[in-house]
Amino acid sequence: MKKITVAIDGYSSCGKSTMAKALARQVGYAYIDTGAMYRCVGLYALTHSYLQDGKVDEGFLQEMMSGIQITFRPNSEGRSEPYLNGVGVESQIRTLAISEAASVVSQYRYVRSAMVSQQQAMGQSKGVVMDGRDIGTVVFPDAELKIFVMASDEVRARRRYDELVAKGEEGLCYENVLAMVRERDYRDTHRAESPLVQAEDALVLDNSHMTIEEQNEWLLAAFERAVRG
Ligand code: DC
Repeated sequence: MKKITVAIDGYSSCGKSTMAKALARQVGYAYIDTGAMYRCVGLYALTHSYLQDGKVDEGFLQEMMSGIQITFRPNSEGRSEPYLNGVGVESQIRTLAISEAASVVSQYRYVRSAMVSQQQAMGQSKGVVMDGRDIGTVVFPDAELKIFVMASDEVRARRRYDELVAKGEEGLCYENVLAMVRERDYRDTHRAESPLVQAEDALVLDNSHMTIEEQNEWLLAAFERAVRG
């Protein structure tokens, strides 16, 4: 069967990675979480003090990026996990602080072009499901299947809040998480470099009122049509 590229873009916390992972597993494709790559850069920027007062000094971007190597390796259950300079960072990058740091570093052109080249290399043989913000518009504008996922900001904040509580994050308040979701949406859609926009040829999925099973079925059906098409 012919292999295709599946690009899944959309707002933060709208369940992109859940559906992307499920599809990749079902159809035997590689899954690449590009948000995890920006989170790795954010983690590095924070821990090496490149990120200060909500920004990185442009003069240090090249030095910062030259210190970063991001790879993915399967865990014991076969799920791919990010490694930053050889160290597994899956749980470290899922905190609220790293969400913020990733959102900041992903605004810089230098950071984006380094990440985009790496993503293009990872997906060059097709047979890949990649999720992010600019996959169908910048990384793989010729992807055979493009999905743009959305859900209301309240639904996304509730999902994010529940996820963070389940991971043991303390002192959380739903209203703050909602404010952060809106702030990240604003930054993701208004940045000068590759802002989040829906590709013209993307299929739109609003999953505000769908179960995970329903969205997985919807995606699998779209995939099967694209492979036949
Ligand atoms: O999907 P996520 O929440 O893990 O993404 C983390 C941050 O990285 C988010 O603020 C948007 C940014 N990002 C991006 O700019 N481009 C991508 N392809 C993926 C994520």
